[in-house]
Amino acid sequence: MTTTDALVALRGVTVIFRSTGILGSRGELTAVRDADLTIGAGETVGLVGESGSGKTTLGRAILGLVPMERGTIHVAGEDLATVGQPFPARIRRKVQAVFQDPLQALNPRHRVERLVAEPLRIHTDLRGRQLQARVVGLLEQVGLSAGLLRRRTNELSGGQRQRVAIARALAVDPQVLVLDEAVSALDVTTGAQIIKLLERVRPAQGATLFISHDIARVRSVCNRVAVMYRGRIVEFGTADEICGDPRHPYTQLLVASVPDPHPHRVTTVGRASFTVDPTARAAPDGCPFAPRCPHADDRCAVFPDPTVLGTRVVRCHHVADVTTHPTEVPR
Ligand SMILES: Nc1ncnc2c1ncn2[C@@H]1O[C@H](COP(=O)(O)OP(=O)(O)O)[C@@H](O)[C@H]1O
Ligand SMILES: [Mg+2]
Repeated sequence: MTTTDALVALRGVTVIFRSTGILGSRGELTAVRDADLTIGAGETVGLVGESGSGKTTLGRAILGLVPMERGTIHVAGEDLATVGQPFPARIRRKVQAVFQDPLQALNPRHRVERLVAEPLRIHTDLRGRQLQARVVGLLEQVGLSAGLLRRRTNELSGGQRQRVAIARALAVDPQVLVLDEAVSALDVTTGAQIIKLLERVRPAQGATLFISHDIARVRSVCNRVAVMYRGRIVEFGTADEICGDPRHPYTQLLVASVPDPHPHRVTTVGRASFTVDPTARAAPDGCPFAPRCPHADDRCAVFPDPTVLGTRVVRCHHVADVTTHPTEVPR
């Protein structure tokens, strides 16, 4: 896919957080480094990786919420570098997000009606009865009854709150939807219901970024999956390539650590034990996974160029030596 026909296209995106200590010492943290990612029309792309790997920061970059050090982001044909901050309404309505518990940030005394009407008031001319009808229609779409209109958000269950958040995001008919751990705070059953809902309501011809630390969830929802480790995208391919036949040693570790819901099935992990030297540190420009990687050698002091295998891209010097993996994420 080329940059021009992707709805979301990131090229070399780098985000650095800087801090100044009490004695004036300066700290620098590269949260995302040289990230390339595309999401086509109608596609859902997963972004997985352990906590702190930079997933949220990458999602926030697409929303224009963190400044980029380098790189370009195109969203629905707009170059984010040229649109200015804060985003004009034209772009804000194209890109919507649902976070882990998004209503938490809002006034808990606000009623559902007002919360769902808010984006419509900002981005459309709907008022009065027409506005009310659209709000009720949106609630129906996310499986909530009109009886909840007068409820305050602190009276709702976690699942209901997330449905309200999804209704708010859908209200303005976005082209791009960023879902950041949108079901992670919910219990398994409620989470599964919300996933079903998202599959039904996500913009059909839009682009969805599904951020999750849970690779098993991602497989069921996504067309393609990007794997992040310490700010780097280390592998990106179809959900079947990534979850069924992972090639980057980190993806293999991630896939092997998913609990198997069918315990009678024999699971063999390619290399039974990963020897980890707790004092080892990654080289500044090297592969961040090298200190934990059983294949690491001197070459890993430089982050590798992309290797294309089928429809996937892997960033590993050892990809030819890494055996195909006998385990896969359970479906
Ligand atoms: N606003 C911020 N200021 C400073 N550091 C941040 C900020 N946001 C995130 N970070 C740091 O950036 C890294 C990536 O964080 P994040 O994107 O939240 O990862 P993830 O979503 O994968 O858990 C972490 O080390 C985190 O502490
Ligand atoms: Mg996060």
